[in-house]
Amino acid sequence: RPQLSMHAFDGLTLEQVPLARIADVLGTPAWVYSAGAMRARLAELKAAMAGLPADVHYAVKANDHLAVLRIMAAGGAGADVVSEGELRRARAAGIPASAIVFSGVGKTEREIRLAITEGIHQLNVESAEELEVISAIASALGGRARVALRVNPDVDAGTHAKITTGTAETKFGIPYDDVPAVYARAAALPGVEPVGLALHIGSQIMSTAPYRAAFARAAEMVRTLRAQGLAVSRMDCGGGLGIGYRDEPDGSPAALAGAMRTAFGGMDLELMVEPGRWLVGPAGVLLATVVLVKGQERFVVLDAAMNELMRPAMYDAWHGIVPLAAGTAVGATTPVDVVGPVCESSDTFARGRALPRLERGARVALLDAGAYGAVMSSTYNGRPLAPIALVDGDRWAVIRERQAHADLWAGERVPEFI
Ligand code: LLP
Repeated sequence: RPQLSMHAFDGLTLEQVPLARIADVLGTPAWVYSAGAMRARLAELKAAMAGLPADVHYAVKANDHLAVLRIMAAGGAGADVVSEGELRRARAAGIPASAIVFSGVGKTEREIRLAITEGIHQLNVESAEELEVISAIASALGGRARVALRVNPDVDAGTHAKITTGTAETKFGIPYDDVPAVYARAAALPGVEPVGLALHIGSQIMSTAPYRAAFARAAEMVRTLRAQGLAVSRMDCGGGLGIGYRDEPDGSPAALAGAMRTAFGGMDLELMVEPGRWLVGPAGVLLATVVLVKGQERFVVLDAAMNELMRPAMYDAWHGIVPLAAGTAVGATTPVDVVGPVCESSDTFARGRALPRLERGARVALLDAGAYGAVMSSTYNGRPLAPIALVDGDRWAVIRERQAHADLWAGERVPEFI
């Protein structure tokens, strides 16, 4: 990761800021993001898409902090949102409604109404049932919703089962063979204007083959619809581009763009992509301190836990772990289990990981934690949400305070009758 480097005196540095300095001020656990890395990655993605009529809609769910959304907006990205909260956040960050796409299998009436009154770019419809609901709401509002039908192409993305979305058994999208009828229905219904198709086959996709297969199916569907006299002008190609959590290279935006060009080139379609992880994952770290080492040095217990970074517990995900202090990288590397203090055996960041000797008080960074990190945190075990810092060149700022303990129960009421 170009934004991370080890220095003899300053130790592990994000852009030009020593992470130990941030840990000194904020304590741990704490998240740190690199603005420069996010900007550079968005620029790289956009460069790969240059020459294609393609827009980038950043998947807000990956990291929804207002500052992150501002960086994305400044770099020319719109937003892909999946809830009222994300829609309002994106607007609060200054992303215009015209650059927002709303996805999700269970949009509530309230969310649909908000999307229509805001006048967003497009709603991605995930079922025939939802199409009827959107039509009724839009008609009642006297509005017109631009909708894309999310087609389930029944393609296996070759990723973890919990983040696969493009096979027929998943809850996502409209079954491929049903799309022509649903699209024709959309064209006939009041209050909705079908503008095209959308797909998203899964997340952390490391090869181009599943994209090629899904895009080929989608292009075929566009031709089928057009042959029926239906207007199709947009194709949302989804997100899912993976990153190399271990030593493997990141998924390639150029290869993704190539697959888009092969499938949709010359078809007179406005294309879009909605990546989350690839843009922000490598740009964030989670800082933690070793609370103690126990069990004949077998277990390294951190002050960070699954309630901060849930990915290892939930998907058996691998995250790099690097000491902050210079010099710790040399010395004995005995395989250890790196765990958190939460009362669950799944609260384990790494098993049998060869790491430099880590003493009580040593600080480490868990890498590639910028996507699906802070956004998936909980306060389980009475643990306040961790603070967040943003680094930009040689400057840094706190962009979220550590939650106060009293705020953990601030919204709670104890009724008189108990
Ligand atoms: N579009 C749609 C419709 C999605 O459902 C998602 C992610 C994205 C775009 C962005 O996908 P990305 O480019 O980030 O792969 N919590 C899991 C990942 C869940 C992804 C959910 N949908 C994890 O930590 O691996």
